Amino acid sequence: MDGRERELIEKLEKEKGLSESEYAELIARRDEEAASLLAKKARRVADAVYGDAIYTRGLIEISSICRNNCLYCGIRKDNNLTERYRLSKEQILSCADEGYDLGFRTFVLQGGEDPFFSDEVLCDIITDIKKAHPDCAVTLSMGERSFESYQALFDAGAERYLLRHETADATHYAMLHPSDMSFEKRMQCLRDLKKIGYQVGCGFMVGSPGQTAETIAKDLTFIRIFKPEMCGIGPFIPHHNTPFKDEKQGTLELTLFLLSVIRLTHPWVLLPATTALGTIHPQGREKGILAGANVVMPNLSPVEVRKKYELYDNKICTGEESAQCRSCLEDRMKAIGYRTVVDRGDANHGKI
Ligand code: SAM
Ligand code: FES
Repeated sequence: MDGRERELIEKLEKEKGLSESEYAELIARRDEEAASLLAKKARRVADAVYGDAIYTRGLIEISSICRNNCLYCGIRKDNNLTERYRLSKEQILSCADEGYDLGFRTFVLQGGEDPFFSDEVLCDIITDIKKAHPDCAVTLSMGERSFESYQALFDAGAERYLLRHETADATHYAMLHPSDMSFEKRMQCLRDLKKIGYQVGCGFMVGSPGQTAETIAKDLTFIRIFKPEMCGIGPFIPHHNTPFKDEKQGTLELTLFLLSVIRLTHPWVLLPATTALGTIHPQGREKGILAGANVVMPNLSPVEVRKKYELYDNKICTGEESAQCRSCLEDRMKAIGYRTVVDRGDANHGKI
């Protein structure tokens, strides 16, 4: 690490952000020593805001049916070699019940953009989850919808929404998506969600094809300005039946580095150590926490469908029961000195 790197890291810490060109410079110059200094500072900040608490969110993957054709994604419409599934309302409610008994107080319903999940169908499911478990938060991650649709889901009781922006660079966005998907629409959805009052999560894949230090600098600038409550970043991992099957996967090293940068940019953000990070390294999630993450998302989907929600190759946790995932993550966090907590875990805006 040279003087310039040290200067950038100190500025990032002090001013909670860098200019776009400085972010790009920091990424381009990074080395092991800089990463370890950043991780130490990021963990210190996360500890100051959240202490030793790691929030857990129960993930329910409700449908692998999708009308979109994102070039990176294993459940894209044109992948005709994957078996599709859609959970029934009863299955979703029973996953939530099981999760509740295991201690979860946040459920994340995630799926492809499956037209079956109309506003009426989703509102009915959200209402019933909230009726059964009024003390729980419902998070949705169901892709792009209209303002009216997001409003209806919010009115039914969903309070959080995860929609990764995928990249804050329009040209890069066009490399990752077919021409019928637009960068402007994605950004509009994020603005709509915020306007309605959702706690919003954006995010991007690390190492996606075409990504550069400059596009990442745009992502970081977007995060700095948009101030999402949550930010999901994880490595890009190729799926064997997508146009990106021969592309390189994102690295552990860059993902950890960016988790630290995001924590310093946005001290109270809810930052998951993702399943993708656990997939590229056996201790990926633990390393993610030690680099500044503060959320883990154990899988609550029925075991019989898990392999079918294959966004990328070799995804972990596809054979485990919900209870196993829950205790596995609890043990993993304990081993590095942290404790999983089950309360709703809203973003801690106040503390820093
Ligand atoms: N349909 C919803 C949406 O578009 O937000 C939610 C499901 S989508 C599969 C969830 C996230 O998975 C995407 O935002 C993307 O960043 C991530 N993802 C998809 N394919 C991936 C891959 N090959 N490697 C890593 N992450 C991937
Ligand atoms: Fe699912 Fe470890 S988190 S088995």
